[in-house]
Amino acid sequence: MLTKPKFLVFAGSTRKDSYNKKLAKLAEKILLENQSEVTYLDLRDLPMPIYDGDLEAEEGIPANAMRFRDMLKAHHALLICAPEYNSSISGVLKNAIDWASRPIKGEPPLMCFKGKIVNLMSASPSKWGGLRGLVTVRSILGNIGCIVLPDQLCIPFADKAFNESGLLMDKDINGILEKICQDYIKIAAKISLPDHCIEATQAFTK
Ligand code: FNR
Repeated sequence: MLTKPKFLVFAGSTRKDSYNKKLAKLAEKILLENQSEVTYLDLRDLPMPIYDGDLEAEEGIPANAMRFRDMLKAHHALLICAPEYNSSISGVLKNAIDWASRPIKGEPPLMCFKGKIVNLMSASPSKWGGLRGLVTVRSILGNIGCIVLPDQLCIPFADKAFNESGLLMDKDINGILEKICQDYIKIAAKISLPDHCIEATQAFTK
């Protein structure tokens, strides 16, 4: 069954002035301008303890990790702007994924991730724009059942790329961002929503 996809957009950074949040906000705007249903999530609003097996055994999955899981479950498409830390994934993003990947009685394994259409982006002050980090993020998400689209966008020299209003100053890069988002909408619309996603989407309230 084809159902209009819902997009969850978030950055793998909690930093107030995060370049990846700026990029995520721009992507959200483009998705909205193209009549998509979008939820923007700031991971700063969902602080989670570092994953600890003893904590999980004693107290279960923390409330904010459950909220994150519910949001993932309720969306078909995930647009993630992932900072590069030491050539890899940021701790915040990895920790959130780790909590969300934990099994829950009565739910199919990796329910939050399987069949999700993922688009990856990154922004970094370096000349590579966080490209190396996305290799890791792609690998992790692919291994837990996401469909990670081949197109991705990395914004180099991110400390100089955005103006005071958070807009990209380079028209060509902005054009690429728009094209990637528009292609993303078309691709996500063509892929059937997993059944759990339809049910969770209906149950989800922002
Ligand atoms: C970084 N940064 C970084 N940048 C990069 O391009 N390659 C890298 O390997 C790293 N490594 C790294 C490790 C750690 C621990 C930190 C804190 C930072 C710099 C990083 O790209 C920069 O801080 C960005 O501003 C982080 O993204 P946000 O928070 O602006 O979205």
